[in-house]
Amino acid sequence: MVQSQPIGIFDSGIGGLTVARSLKEALPLEQFIYFGDTAHMPYGDKSPEEILQYSKKIVEFLIANHVKLIVIACNSASSIAASALRSAYWKQVEIMGVIRPVVNDIVKNNIKKIGIIGTQATIQSQIYPHLLHEADAQIEIYQLATPLLAPMIEAGKVSQSVLYQTMADYLSDKHFEDKEAILLACTHYPIIKDEVNTFFKHQKRIFDNAAPLAFEVKKYLTDKNLLATVKKGANQFYVSRYSDTFEKAIYTFYGKQLEVKEVHL
Ligand code: DGL
Repeated sequence: MVQSQPIGIFDSGIGGLTVARSLKEALPLEQFIYFGDTAHMPYGDKSPEEILQYSKKIVEFLIANHVKLIVIACNSASSIAASALRSAYWKQVEIMGVIRPVVNDIVKNNIKKIGIIGTQATIQSQIYPHLLHEADAQIEIYQLATPLLAPMIEAGKVSQSVLYQTMADYLSDKHFEDKEAILLACTHYPIIKDEVNTFFKHQKRIFDNAAPLAFEVKKYLTDKNLLATVKKGANQFYVSRYSDTFEKAIYTFYGKQLEVKEVHL
């Protein structure tokens, strides 16, 4: 691996852009190759076998594009497929998921009562309770699958009342009332972070994957002496099915229209 190689990032759709944004802020000289698997979105409702199969194809595509590191910017794929992907590709590339960095962040912040929302796949995997309790057996956790949110966000329903109502329905669950913090355990959810904050009247700390992951990636690249020293090429964006909202999301996140290429894996 050399410093000038790009970093690969993938998600089922636009959610990973929340992670890509933090990576770009923390590592302005890096070049990124982003893959949004829009043809298979949502991942959260798929079987573990399907999620692993999609993820493998994307990892192979990114390896073929000579990335020095792959970030799984998706909780569903990180919880289901990260270890299998690492076992399959460890000789070719380092693969980082989004879960452990935010777990470390929650523990470091001494959170004792937390509510978690995520996709069906992530919640069913039990990965967050498992890792959080491993670090601190006293943490009180309540998790709820909120499967309608990511598809609605992906469909561009942000700031429409139907999305707010759906979110409010989920968050009205009384088990969230006494929690001091909420973990947005899906990379799509930071897109509606303001709405979540409004719902809870800014009374809860909100955690998400992006900043803790960016911190870990920077640390990893620094330790391995793999940090880019000059900006080489432009970032590249790929999707498995063209989507209008993906293009719009790119504009929102990057402030300009960037080319999005469709590839079928
Ligand atoms: N953004 C993803 C996650 O973090 C996937 C959402 C989905 O495709 O269901 O889980």
